[in-house]
Amino acid sequence: MIRDQIIAIDQGTTSTRAIRYAADGCVLAVASQPIRLAHPQPGWVEADAEQLWIGVQDCVRQVMDERVAAIGIANQRETVLLWDRDSGRALHPAIIWQDRRTAAQCEALRADGAEELVRARTGLLLDPYFTATKLGWLLDHVPGAAALSAQGRLAAGTVDSFLLWRLTGGRSHLTDATNASRTSLFDIHRLCWDADLLTLFDIPGSILPTVAGNCRDFGQTDIRVTGRPVPITCMAGDQQAAMIGLGSVLPGRMKATYGTGCFLLAHTGDKPLLSRHRLLTTLACLVDGEAAYALEGSIFVAGAALNWLRDGLGIVHGYDGIASLAASVPDDHGVHLVPAFVGLGAPHWRSDLRASLTGLTLDTGPATIVRAALEAAAFQTCDLIQAMQADGLVPQDVRIDGGMASNDWFAGYLADMTGLCVDRSRNHEATAWGAARLAGFAAGIWPDPRRVPVLSGLDRFTPSIDGAHRQRRLTGWRDAVHHLLSSTS
Ligand code: G3P
Repeated sequence: MIRDQIIAIDQGTTSTRAIRYAADGCVLAVASQPIRLAHPQPGWVEADAEQLWIGVQDCVRQVMDERVAAIGIANQRETVLLWDRDSGRALHPAIIWQDRRTAAQCEALRADGAEELVRARTGLLLDPYFTATKLGWLLDHVPGAAALSAQGRLAAGTVDSFLLWRLTGGRSHLTDATNASRTSLFDIHRLCWDADLLTLFDIPGSILPTVAGNCRDFGQTDIRVTGRPVPITCMAGDQQAAMIGLGSVLPGRMKATYGTGCFLLAHTGDKPLLSRHRLLTTLACLVDGEAAYALEGSIFVAGAALNWLRDGLGIVHGYDGIASLAASVPDDHGVHLVPAFVGLGAPHWRSDLRASLTGLTLDTGPATIVRAALEAAAFQTCDLIQAMQADGLVPQDVRIDGGMASNDWFAGYLADMTGLCVDRSRNHEATAWGAARLAGFAAGIWPDPRRVPVLSGLDRFTPSIDGAHRQRRLTGWRDAVHHLLSSTS
């Protein structure tokens, strides 16, 4: 039996997908399952651990085939789970990366002067977005967690680790360096858990997974899931996998993925570049012992704003008509949505803020509000690119993917507002493709995707407005952000 096909699992915030690829990279099968998020208190975001696991199992079973050689996992980052090593039972729902419950603790740590240590070791800032304070919250609030930890039975990890544990029937407790680099516990220079940070966040190192590179034998799947053991040969954070999938593997390359949030990452080579403009420094990949780094700007709400317009306000019904609705109004009419539904991420890092919709008049209709939601994702991307430029990066173009990117109006608007050429991937599943490429490389099927990037084609959008016009638009947005920042500081 020739085994030359790869399955990639893309476990995202609002959906799980599994895709099976042929040896020539063609997509042979796709399965997908939605994730229902819970908001038990304002600012809290959780997902049921069993729902996550069942979704992954279902998707993998649907696409599984005799010819599958290996599986790769890409996952939403920072989200944390806690489970019992003996029973495999999760002790609490997953706390999702968007969750703000530890904002006060981050503030207190900042007031104590801890941010410099965190920044120097991890490249991150103090914000509830990252895993460490969430994990601390779980240890403090989940009944029985401390006792299990004392007995050596407690395991913790990001989504990659939890899925690996379940997929291997409890045999592997590993994570990869890109996921580890989002926890605030990992030294991105020495590439190991950091004892000072474990003390600072009061996390016992014994509950954490072992950290590995992105490509290796992470363990064999349990035959109850896949019918026969299949090696898992890649794990990577979804944004880092998307960098590989979009071919953003050389210094200077920039990509933005528009999913629930939007994450702009610029490859900075083999040395971490510490931002002076409140961006994050993160691992881009760790393969064959070679680390590559990226600067990252994290936007917490992009596609999630469209979900809110559909599910919360009911002013759009499906996503198909969104581009034409936005294009049906010739101007923003001074209406701005600052989508701080879970606070603002880079470069503001204000977890206390909540969203604002300003400039409304009696004739403001749904089209203008939809346009404002799309514009907000473009404006925030501009702000991040500007911060990257201030940090010394010289972007030539930006590669984009994700649901919002498939909207032509949005891609064109992004080119206009950034003044850069925007290259949209024809492969809408760049995250899964990146995980597949890494898994296929580790399995000996494909060449190293860092050296031989394989793209499925790009559609280019070029800027079509002049600098003065661009500046006028951006000024309106920045005034709205400034107003929100100053109204609550
Ligand atoms: O850092 C969070 C990010 O990994 C989530 O990605 O695609 O689920 O919005 P996504």
